[in-house]
Amino acid sequence: MQRPIGVFDSGVGGLNVLKYCTELLPDESFIYLADEANMPYGNKPEDDIARAAFACADKLFSLNCKAVVIACNTATVTAVDRIRALYSTRVVVGLEPAVKPCVKELGKNGYAVALVTDATFASDRFSRLLESCDKRVVPLASPKLAKLIEDNQDDITRIKPYLREVFEKYGDAEAVILGCSHYSYISGLISEIYGGKIKIYDGAEGAARRLKYCLELSGLTAKKGECKPTIKFLSTYKK
Ligand code: DGL
Repeated sequence: MQRPIGVFDSGVGGLNVLKYCTELLPDESFIYLADEANMPYGNKPEDDIARAAFACADKLFSLNCKAVVIACNTATVTAVDRIRALYSTRVVVGLEPAVKPCVKELGKNGYAVALVTDATFASDRFSRLLESCDKRVVPLASPKLAKLIEDNQDDITRIKPYLREVFEKYGDAEAVILGCSHYSYISGLISEIYGGKIKIYDGAEGAARRLKYCLELSGLTAKKGECKPTIKFLSTYKK
């Protein structure tokens, strides 16, 4: 039987990463795990996030996954090194804000806003990423946003007034970097707030490309026609 690829996030955010993975790797099977019991990750202490992320990776590897994608910026900055250390022979791909591609394309005097969760904002890994871009990326933490997106899937436009407040001081930004996988659901709203005059960067496609590369490098890519690809969805839930 073809071994699946595991993808996890605290909730629905990682589904966008899954979408790019399935497009790029159409012969692969996937298991998506939404850790709803621990959502939101972004407001939790580092150890709690790491523990939750470990449990997800462990569950997916125990289901015979050949690779795990951490489709969550918060879990990646907090736990990717430790998960890789523990599963040193496995493919583990993280999700990082697309800071570098954005900075490459910024105009001479332009700046970008990197919208992230509180935990990502406070992390060393994110600080190191920003250090490399000469203060041209302004980090902005939004504590409530991921949960609001998770809870307003039926009508995401409800959160537009809140989003306006978030971006109020950054009307002259040239670009917005989506530093949380949940934020892919609001790229249209952000574009509307900026009257269409904003570039939006998302790390999701980059993570899918990295997964493809790692599978090829490890000789783990599924062969075309070998098996019928499937996608399974799992979720943890609050007791
Ligand atoms: N989707 C996650 C991320 O990419 C975090 C959302 C949450 O706070 O649970 O950072």
